[in-house]
Amino acid sequence: MSTETTQIPQVQKVWRVVGSGLPAKALKLEEIPVPSDLQPGEVLVKIQAAALNPVGYKLMKMLPNWLAKRPHVAENDFAGVVVDANGTAFANGDEVFGWIPTDLQQKTSQGCLAQYARVPVDYFVKKPNNITPTEAAGITLTAATAYKGLVEIAQIEEGQSVFINGGSSSVGIFAIQIAKSKGCKVVASCSSKNTDFVKSLGADEVLDYKASPLSQQLTTNPPTPKFHVIFDCIGLTSPELYTKSAPYLAPNGIFVTVGFNVSSLKQVPGILRTAVNAFLIPAWLGGVKPKWKVFVVTNRKERLDDIRKLVQDGTVKPVVDSTYEFEDALKAFDKLMSERAVGKVVVNVV
Ligand SMILES: NC(=O)c1ccc[n+]([C@@H]2O[C@H](COP(=O)([O-])OP(=O)(O)OC[C@H]3O[C@@H](n4cnc5c(N)ncnc54)[C@H](OP(=O)(O)O)[C@@H]3O)[C@@H](O)[C@H]2O)c1
Repeated sequence: MSTETTQIPQVQKVWRVVGSGLPAKALKLEEIPVPSDLQPGEVLVKIQAAALNPVGYKLMKMLPNWLAKRPHVAENDFAGVVVDANGTAFANGDEVFGWIPTDLQQKTSQGCLAQYARVPVDYFVKKPNNITPTEAAGITLTAATAYKGLVEIAQIEEGQSVFINGGSSSVGIFAIQIAKSKGCKVVASCSSKNTDFVKSLGADEVLDYKASPLSQQLTTNPPTPKFHVIFDCIGLTSPELYTKSAPYLAPNGIFVTVGFNVSSLKQVPGILRTAVNAFLIPAWLGGVKPKWKVFVVTNRKERLDDIRKLVQDGTVKPVVDSTYEFEDALKAFDKLMSERAVGKVVVNVV
């Protein structure tokens, strides 16, 4: 047993999801045992920082306890230090970043708003030296989403033209940088206050989504050639972006979305319209020709390795919106739930 292992305390502070509702109701700051039951292939990580993601509070609000397998520690993204390498290829003292995605969180009751977590080695990578733990904490979930949407599903290629809906969102920030790193032309949407920021990420053109509906803007001023890919990083708040895309999305192109942002029942008709156009009406009867694909990100070790390389060589830079102390995690959730953060909302754990 290493010296560091002997210094591991028996109890730790965690924010645990103990019920359903908004974070102020669903979360409790508790003391629970530090995991001591490491399985082969797992390490014990001392967490330095945890980043918040919308999926955390959405599941708190939407799922009953039995379905969400509560209680479990909150949140999915971390940066930390390996303190018990448990015979794996990692060493005590390695600085790492990674995640405990929802499926693993529900299976093991582990999460990242904690001082310690046991994590399988396929779920994290070594932190490059050019970023801080606070920056590293916010990479995995959203960078993996952007990578999966653009590289694995849309299979973007050099010279293609890509529209990123939501360029200042955490997913969009990584998506713009990844698309540029592959040699694509990028047009992105954001509100006017974020135009300079989104351009600084590499976007070639920026549209203000608040000025008028994006489908109208793109129809009035269509790109030449048409987009190969539209990547919706927000959650299809405007279904017309797909259903009216004929003037600006190539017929053999693809519309990829992170899902439906079902914050209000008013969105249900739009969601149904999208589904009907995507799946029920054939193109020859007026349905939309380009493919439509929704996905949920899951773990893939090779993807994490690729993302690490992009960060290490400076091609992709994480962006932090704000940082909070551990005891102030509820304030961090308020910031995230404002839906106005530009980059990751991070809770420092040490
Ligand atoms: N399917 C998956 O596996 C997966 C994975 C990760 C995330 N998601 C989903 O993806 C969405 C984004 O997550 P995130 O973490 O990137 O969110 P986030 O960082 O909290 O997004 C906040 C940003 O979105 C911008 N924004 C809000 N509404 C917009 C709109 N209608 N058009 C353009 N920009 C808008 C805001 O800018 P302004 O202030 O300028 O509006 C703000 O900068 C969430 O719905 C999340 O649940 C899905």
